[in-house]
Amino acid sequence: MDNFTFYAPTYFAFGKGSEKLTGKLVKRFGGSKVLLHYGGGSVKRNGIFDAVVASLDEAKIPFIELGGVKPNPRSGLVYEGIKLCKKKKVDFILAVGGGSVIDSAKAIAAGAIYDGDFWDYYSGKEVVKALPVATVLTIAAAGSEGSPHSVITNEDGMRKRAAEGEGLRPVFSIMNPEFTCTLDSYQTACGITDIMAHVCERYFTNTKDVETTDRLCEGILKAMITESPKVIKNLRDYQARANIMWAGMIAHNDICGADRKQDWSSHRIEHELSGLYDVAHGAGLAVIVPAWMKFVMKHDVNRFAQFAVRVWDCDMNFADPEVTALEGIERFRNFLKSIGMPSKFKELGAKEKDIPTLVKKLGVTENKKLGSFVKLGPEEVTAIYRLAA
Ligand code: NZQ
Ligand code: ZN
Repeated sequence: MDNFTFYAPTYFAFGKGSEKLTGKLVKRFGGSKVLLHYGGGSVKRNGIFDAVVASLDEAKIPFIELGGVKPNPRSGLVYEGIKLCKKKKVDFILAVGGGSVIDSAKAIAAGAIYDGDFWDYYSGKEVVKALPVATVLTIAAAGSEGSPHSVITNEDGMRKRAAEGEGLRPVFSIMNPEFTCTLDSYQTACGITDIMAHVCERYFTNTKDVETTDRLCEGILKAMITESPKVIKNLRDYQARANIMWAGMIAHNDICGADRKQDWSSHRIEHELSGLYDVAHGAGLAVIVPAWMKFVMKHDVNRFAQFAVRVWDCDMNFADPEVTALEGIERFRNFLKSIGMPSKFKELGAKEKDIPTLVKKLGVTENKKLGSFVKLGPEEVTAIYRLAA
């Protein structure tokens, strides 16, 4: 196990009616003027926005609105939000929505107290300080409600990049699983895939003796395997929605990975797909993660066999563990298909002829490789895109 520091101070209010606490919590965490940030309108149609506003009104907290965040959130709206916050002296950002809205809110929060260009943070500068951000989560997926990350697409070149830093961890997150019941099965499945991918990025590690967090990872994945079909069958299954929502948080606030080297190649490779073709992040991952697994499997067949046996209930083939390892990857791919996820490039509208462009945009070179479990240069990344095509 590696040494680590782990500080995850987000306050969570989980369950039916938890949105009623929004106003009180904004006050508790020092907000006196709020930017209420949201997406393309789902929260206005399903009543979530009104419920949040009612709570802010009750606590007598003034707010201004900024809607219009698109999935794969863009830099243009972030600049607009930063300007608005500076002009109106906003001191608290409240995101009502999914990962895209939350990430846009985080970018605004960082940029609002920074004199330079907020994009500096998406080019490697750590976010130490930002305005406080809080979330009212409406989709179980990205885990941004508990993570110190934000992912934004720069319209200049459609470059999708991540920022990181403790300043980005939400001060509180409201998680009412009922709010996720209006998601269609496709968006639900995209979220499920993202949650499972967040675990896998941590699970496939070269760090030895991490049994406790291995078991945490396996537990989350097994819960996803039992709960996901229930929710795809009945989109209003509250208990299954609740289990998946909490899994999404645990999968990505780093409790199950702080003690190990993590990989994140699949995410970086996917971000180029969602950046270029504007596909849903989870759908892109459904295509990339199994391809990445197949490509790197031989690096540690025993770890993949462990994944197959403990997570996917495969029988161990002691004479040939590779057979078991491959079986686990196949079961994972079939599971993703069973919840309606794509498994090939063309199902995403991605084109094989664009692979060189994707690799170039990723910026990987022989001297600047990707990942940690297996380090990937341009040739290897190309091979993974080809496996997915
Ligand atoms: O915009 P609206 O109208 O709200 O519609 C959204 C959007 O079209 C809709 N939606 C959300 N909640 C709904 C709903 N529709 C009906 N009922 C509800 N309750 O769902 C669509 C997708 O929303 P989005 O926020 O884009 O989904 P998600 O949470 O999957 O976020 C994806 C983004 O998060 C990034 C991804 O790269 C992607 O840009 N990630 C962020 C991470 C982080 N900050 O830690 C980590 C992840 O790995 C990921 O990269
Ligand atoms: Zn993700």
